[in-house]
Amino acid sequence: MRVAVVGTGYVGLVSGACFADFGHVVTCVDKDAGKIERLKKGEIPIFEPGLDQLVASNAREDRLFFTTDPRDAIKTADAVFIAVGTPSRRGDGHADLSYVYAAAAEIADLVEGFTVVVTKSTVPVGTGDEIERIIRERRPDADVAVVSNPEFLREGAAIADFKRPDRIVVGTDDARARAVMQELYRPLSLNETPLLVVNRRTSELIKYAGNAFLAMKITFINEMADLCEAVGADVQQVARGIGLDNRIGSKFLNAGPGYGGSCFPKDTLALVRTATEYGSPVRLIETTVAVNDARKKAMAERVVAACGGAVAGKTIAVLGLTFKPNTDDMRDAPSLDIIPALQKAGASVRAFDPEGMHEASKMLSDVTFTQSPYDCVSGADCVVIITEWDQFRALDLDRVKTLVKSPTIVDLRNVYRPAEMAAKGFQYASIGRG
Ligand code: UGA
Repeated sequence: MRVAVVGTGYVGLVSGACFADFGHVVTCVDKDAGKIERLKKGEIPIFEPGLDQLVASNAREDRLFFTTDPRDAIKTADAVFIAVGTPSRRGDGHADLSYVYAAAAEIADLVEGFTVVVTKSTVPVGTGDEIERIIRERRPDADVAVVSNPEFLREGAAIADFKRPDRIVVGTDDARARAVMQELYRPLSLNETPLLVVNRRTSELIKYAGNAFLAMKITFINEMADLCEAVGADVQQVARGIGLDNRIGSKFLNAGPGYGGSCFPKDTLALVRTATEYGSPVRLIETTVAVNDARKKAMAERVVAACGGAVAGKTIAVLGLTFKPNTDDMRDAPSLDIIPALQKAGASVRAFDPEGMHEASKMLSDVTFTQSPYDCVSGADCVVIITEWDQFRALDLDRVKTLVKSPTIVDLRNVYRPAEMAAKGFQYASIGRG
């Protein structure tokens, strides 16, 4: 099949490369000429494990193309994916749909023959109706079906999530569109991946409901972690104890500094707005948003407490800046709350992150970025682990101890065991473990 993907951000690029790898002929379109030039040379604008090889091999085999000119790609496509950004609109938390609607208008002007227009971007309920209206208004003669097909890709694991998903959700009432979507995802039928066909609004809501539920699950275990600290229990054992109940499930029960990233914060907020607008508020999600925001802000206090109540004049070494490992994405990362709060309290901050320092340097000021975890901890009064990168999981703790000024570690991801750290002579604080 021939596929056009409009928008070569995270979702567009991963989806385009994976569809090409399935054997479809994919053209990725973006207005950013510099980005397209770099992609043509095989340079990937984001860090995502395996994506560079996937793009290179499919480009080499003439299944994956990049262009700023959408004309041919859209004219010849069986399916055109809209994968442009939907950032939170400043001020009100609504998803900003201007890029989506601009893409719809552009597609309307260019389609020929029956074309499925698929929304991959995360869009509020009813957006598909508006896309359809825009296309019909501009091109009453166009033979299109507008379909919702949300993505469930985790950054850092996006290729595996695309190729081995738990399910595919397709929102359409159109039989021809359904056939095209089934054909596009046919390679996954070998693994018997469920392909759920629902109406468009249901599909749009599934995306938000899924992310909101996961955000709520994380927030639940984070509150349990606080309670564990108060009552002398261990949150990891609580998570295991409840997670083994199949009705609950063990995933997404890792307590930490609060969720961040480009999806959960934005999507929970957008769901709250939609629900409020429709007069059907989602109180659990409203609370999730508030509790998570407060949590991220409160993390710096743990560091201050570990430092004996004050950090003025002290040097704090931060290991991990990105919102999670295996990405360079800094959006809504807990480090963006924690570091400025520590600086405000008078601390100097040194930091190391395997991939995120370039992005972080645009969002943080007065931070000394270092070359390695060991360089980072040198002379520190306190080491704070904010992101659980693999390379922080097996640090040479004896070496760390010789480098730091004071052997204090605040582990916001529970990477280490309290007993092991005590045995090594560290003053160690973690999350939800008494
Ligand atoms: C999330 C969803 O997991 C994907 O299914 C979805 O497609 C994506 O959003 C999206 O809407 O595009 P992502 O934001 O990449 O993916 O990352 P997650 O792995 O879900 O982590 C989100 C945040 O939750 C991170 O800050 C992470 O550290 C935190 N988290 C996650 C925890 O604190 N505890 C956990 O147990 C799991």
